[in-house]
Amino acid sequence: MAVQVDDIGLLTIVQHVDLDVEEDEETIASVIVVVEDAEKQQHHHLRSIASALVIRQIPSQGISFQLWPAATSFLTLLDHNTSCTPLTPFLSKSQRILELGSGTGLVGIAAAATLGAYVTLTDLPHVLPNLQFNADANAHALAFNCGTVHVASLRWGEAEDMESVGREFDLLLASDVVYHDHLFDPLLQTVHFFLSGDNSPVFLMAHLKRWKKKDSVFFKKARKMFHVEMIHSDPPSPGSRVGVAFYLFTRKCGNGKLTSQTMPVP
Ligand SMILES: C[S@@+](CC[C@H](N)C(=O)[O-])C[C@H]1O[C@@H](n2cnc3c(N)ncnc32)[C@H](O)[C@@H]1O
Repeated sequence: MAVQVDDIGLLTIVQHVDLDVEEDEETIASVIVVVEDAEKQQHHHLRSIASALVIRQIPSQGISFQLWPAATSFLTLLDHNTSCTPLTPFLSKSQRILELGSGTGLVGIAAAATLGAYVTLTDLPHVLPNLQFNADANAHALAFNCGTVHVASLRWGEAEDMESVGREFDLLLASDVVYHDHLFDPLLQTVHFFLSGDNSPVFLMAHLKRWKKKDSVFFKKARKMFHVEMIHSDPPSPGSRVGVAFYLFTRKCGNGKLTSQTMPVP
């Protein structure tokens, strides 16, 4: 248990808890649980648009209301897009973008602001009010390149939600969405649905490699359904053993239909 004063002067009492512990590996997984019901507004300066994004986090409401490490790495690459990063070939042509598991919305809002894209931010229904709040709070930054954001409910694996969002996307984005094993199959089904769209979209996923075993289960499943390639990896941040990696998922040749071998079992 520790007491922290954050950048806007709020006093928070925090404790680090393990999300998951695996016997044979040193786990670096910890999240900050904020005991006090405090909101935090963080400012993220984007050099490319000479403007800051302001993101509200409400840590006491759970993981969907906090910013995860891969989101910050994604933001950095989005901000450097004009100077050519490993993501540039996929970002530069993308105008219609879907973000899965947006959480606070930082990545999707930054994509809309820096690329001048139309971005659909999605998450579970109870997360949407904070997502909409953050979308509205950044209208000034979105205006710079005429980007727009739209918020929608998208529960992974729910056919009705996927159909209602539609398939008209050039690019799917997500950060830190691989964490609970029961979500692997619904997430992969959702990626499969959207990668089967007519625009031949691709999926860019930023992921902090925390759990060797869990990650390998996820990527084994993913590689049965998609071509998966790691296109960039950040060096570990100070005090950490692992860094954020960026994966590109593309659909396999053929009709894009799931077979009995590739269909994730619910
Ligand atoms: C670890 S958080 C990452 C949030 C954000 N992408 C970031 O990097 O800061 C995972 C996100 O996935 C969302 N999520 C979890 N299960 C989901 C599901 N079944 N359908 C849709 N979203 C889900 C959570 O609500 C949460 O916002």
